[in-house]
Amino acid sequence: RTKRQAISAEPSALDPSQLTDVTLTSYCKSKESSELIQKALMDNDFMKHLEHGQILTIMDCMRPTSLTKGCCVIQEGDDGSTVYVLEEGMVEVTKQGKKLCSIGPEKVFGELAILYNCTRTATVTALTDIKLWAIDRQDFQTIMMRTGLIKLSQYTDFLRSVPSFQSLPEDILSKLADVLEETHYSDGDYIIRQGASGDTFFIISQGQVKVSQQNSDTDEQVPEKTLTKGDWFGEQALKGEDVRTASVTAVGDVTCLVIDRESFKQLIGGLDDVNNKQCDNDEVKARLQEESDFFSSVT
Ligand code: CMP
Repeated sequence: RTKRQAISAEPSALDPSQLTDVTLTSYCKSKESSELIQKALMDNDFMKHLEHGQILTIMDCMRPTSLTKGCCVIQEGDDGSTVYVLEEGMVEVTKQGKKLCSIGPEKVFGELAILYNCTRTATVTALTDIKLWAIDRQDFQTIMMRTGLIKLSQYTDFLRSVPSFQSLPEDILSKLADVLEETHYSDGDYIIRQGASGDTFFIISQGQVKVSQQNSDTDEQVPEKTLTKGDWFGEQALKGEDVRTASVTAVGDVTCLVIDRESFKQLIGGLDDVNNKQCDNDEVKARLQEESDFFSSVT
């Protein structure tokens, strides 16, 4: 299972071709409720790694519901169909009659059975009257898969447009796209700090970055170069060097696609000889040759 699929919520239950047919309904909510739901989702260990867009869509599709004190919200062993965020009141979580914990507002519960396609792992009972936000399994899965599939095809298209990756076979490109993590930076953010350890490789998908190295005599940061969309950096880490040899900072808003050393080595078996390619000029050809040599050397 790849990283992205690992949290795709039981992909087999839903035929991807049906995804476009599912209409998601959004429910109006106050600013306070919207923020509460987002915070709850981002605080949940299993959901905090979702992309921001997915969190927003889940929030948008959550519908309000309420239950009175003493009601059973979730019964251990049942097939689960709903994920909840608690807005008001308290619930108690028990397993085989034993209390596990109490949960208060701004928390997600009922996510495990939906994310991992298992039966309910515990019973959840309302200790007070409660107000909840709820999203059903099918909507939840649609959001997970639709976003995942759109991203996958966008990343694959993007990689195909980067000269260094053009010679990779289609299946490798899509596998690479599947393990990429998207990261965002604001102006001045350090993406890589010289001297820090790291094992990740970055491809710029949006914006510009500045590469600089510290002058060991003066301690001054000396600008080396500016990189833009389609350029990559952090490659020394793929050769097994743990220590970053330069600093890279964002110039304005930047989006990078990040691959870790292991995924990279597993997926890329060296790029094709650039001599097989039609190149418009010697400079481009030289650069591609350099890149090709580099990729061959790390794999
Ligand atoms: P799910 O298994 O779908 O339904 C029961 C829910 O109880 C479960 O998801 C979690 O949200 C929650 N839950 C289970 N075990 C614990 C625990 N040890 N602590 C807190 N919450 C739990």
